[in-house]
Amino acid sequence: MSAASHDHCVTIPEIRSRKAGVPLVCLTAYTTPMARLLDPHVDLLLVGDSVGMVVYGYDSTLAVTMDMMIAHGRAVVRGTRHACVIVDMPFGSYQESPQIAFRNAARIMAETGCKGIKIEGGAEMAETIAFLTKRGIPVLGHVGLMPQSVNVVGGYRARGREGADAARILADAKACAEAGAFALVIEGTVESLAHAITKSVPVPTIGIGASPACDGQILVTEDLLGIFREFTPKFVKRYAELGQIIEESVQAFGADVRDRRFPGPEQLFGLKRKTG
Ligand code: KIV
Repeated sequence: MSAASHDHCVTIPEIRSRKAGVPLVCLTAYTTPMARLLDPHVDLLLVGDSVGMVVYGYDSTLAVTMDMMIAHGRAVVRGTRHACVIVDMPFGSYQESPQIAFRNAARIMAETGCKGIKIEGGAEMAETIAFLTKRGIPVLGHVGLMPQSVNVVGGYRARGREGADAARILADAKACAEAGAFALVIEGTVESLAHAITKSVPVPTIGIGASPACDGQILVTEDLLGIFREFTPKFVKRYAELGQIIEESVQAFGADVRDRRFPGPEQLFGLKRKTG
């Protein structure tokens, strides 16, 4: 998809057909104004549960709720005409059973208008992925570093750096693709594993910290723009320093207010002229 084709809404089959084609351009979004800015330039917008850390200031994604994902999902769909919008299922909303996952995924789809949902997990989620896909819910899988498992793993370290872990993640990716996932996010792993997964599955892989071996790339938009500066992972490339621009702009506003330069004559309402 090019930046020019923004009157066409990207479909799930179009995302799937990008396997080994022009790399998929994907970003996160949580609000309407940001979605409007990103929409013409990307193939896929993910309403990630990273919203919990980036917008709400939590130290993990675990406290994110269904209501939060639905509110932000709706906001992003409202600001989107072109990109395929996918909403993350929050921790605890899908792991218990395929039936509970279906009920929550259907609610997200119906109440936001998104095109599909994303869930974290490997082979243990294959039954759920098949259950959802067969019932009309497109699923984006997510393997490798899985932030919702931070407490089991004990941190956000890169995954698949040694043989047994790499073999397990490759098997997880294959199980998700066989179960019907339309694409797979691969997070935080080494190039050799990302390459092996990308070669082994028939659906596109979307990397975040997973090398150029993937069929597409995704980043958290606030990382790329230099707005979220608490912690910048090694795999992020900052394309702007908007955090600095915001600070400088607010300092300039403060100085103008204190020195009575703002509001100036251009910002004042005039008196109504009498007619007749
Ligand atoms: O929650 C999120 O933003 C994600 C992406 C980083 C892939 O899962």
